[in-house]
Amino acid sequence: MPRTNGTVVGTQVEDTRICVVMVGLPARGKSLIAGKIVRYLRWLSVDARTFNVGTYRRQDTPQPTADFFDTNNKEGERMRRAAAEAAVKDMLKWFSQEKGTVAILDATNSTQARRRWIAQTIGQYGIEVMFVESKCDDEDLIMSNIMEVKTTSPDYRGQDPELAAKDFRNRIRNYEKIYETITETDYTYVKLINVGTQVVINCIQDYLQSRIVYFLMNLHIKPRSIWLSRHGESMFNLAGKIGGDADLSPRGFRYSEALPEICRQAGIVPEQNITVWTSTMKRTIQTAQHLSYNKLQWKALDELDSGTCDGLTYEEIEERFPEDFRARDDDKYNYRYRGGESYRDLVIRLEPIIMEMERQENVMVVTHQAVIRCIYAYFMNVPQDRSPWMEIPLHTVIKLTPKAYGTKEERFKANIPAVSTFRPKYSSAKHQETDSPDVNELSVKMNV
Ligand code: F6P
Repeated sequence: MPRTNGTVVGTQVEDTRICVVMVGLPARGKSLIAGKIVRYLRWLSVDARTFNVGTYRRQDTPQPTADFFDTNNKEGERMRRAAAEAAVKDMLKWFSQEKGTVAILDATNSTQARRRWIAQTIGQYGIEVMFVESKCDDEDLIMSNIMEVKTTSPDYRGQDPELAAKDFRNRIRNYEKIYETITETDYTYVKLINVGTQVVINCIQDYLQSRIVYFLMNLHIKPRSIWLSRHGESMFNLAGKIGGDADLSPRGFRYSEALPEICRQAGIVPEQNITVWTSTMKRTIQTAQHLSYNKLQWKALDELDSGTCDGLTYEEIEERFPEDFRARDDDKYNYRYRGGESYRDLVIRLEPIIMEMERQENVMVVTHQAVIRCIYAYFMNVPQDRSPWMEIPLHTVIKLTPKAYGTKEERFKANIPAVSTFRPKYSSAKHQETDSPDVNELSVKMNV
């Protein structure tokens, strides 16, 4: 993570180090929430990492039964304590040696005594401690979490699913006997009640903590999808020029006409309460014109600003600004166009969009190549050195469906040819005609 003189570039964080301590009974979505915080912070260039106590415990006790978690089981208690100590030790090492910014201690941390030990052990190093408790009494939610756990947790790998679910319920009962919800008013905490329903916050201390709180306040775990499409092929795309505010090409207009049907194939049905977001540029508004859903234009969704290079082809940029052309390929994420933006700038501009996407249910976004790369990178956890180089073809709808432990991706290609605007690193290639695409080709992949 880039740090200069104690400042994390891209966010206003001055020498802050935070340990987010998860609290809650098993099957309350703690790991899911931890994973989302880490993904969000890394996308914003904040170095974040989860330390999962279960992973440490599994080294000695790979598949314990519910009795292991009974507080009367002294050996079980000792081993669980040792696992927590090992996780905290590694976390402190990460803070001091790797200069980490936000660590998440993912465990039940369900008693006041355990929380006091964590607050004292970590607090003495000047690291802020912030508890995030997930409380849930929605039986359906708990049940779906149990199903998820029994199919994905290594604790139950290879076991009969019914027996695994029963054992897991007994494990929860053992925790319920000793569980104490957070009431320690001298601690910084966020209490999430039935994720997305009620949030209680206490003693939030600084900017980065408040970013995390705001993110948590916007989370929900209702099933939903996000559909992303670039605008149809534009006249500038045909000419190989970047930026501008051109109209669609005739093929681009054909894509706009085909889009309602492609959306239907991609699972958007008229009854769905869906909003279509576009940028303020003609090419995205024209592309969405036949979609009969509520529409919203966002300035924040406009294409990466290419400053003095706006309206030029890549060849012209290489000719006129050879050093810039090279510098951009050397570090495309951080390179800022003269008078324009970098991908890093774009991510900061898109932060409210991501926050709103987390709050919303089904959304269709019609926007631009660089913008889609950044949004896609958030949902699919793509690192910064790779995200500006991803291929996001024209005339294709990408459907992303967040799942408990990853995001499912499906691509629906329209049967309408378009140029490829993708330029590989260190090449000055012109925009190429793509091969004739397969009819409504579909591809599916899962990022976990
Ligand atoms: O070529 C289409 C386009 O949307 C341009 O307007 C924009 O500058 C470019 O893509 C962004 O892609 P890259 O960062 O790969 O140049």
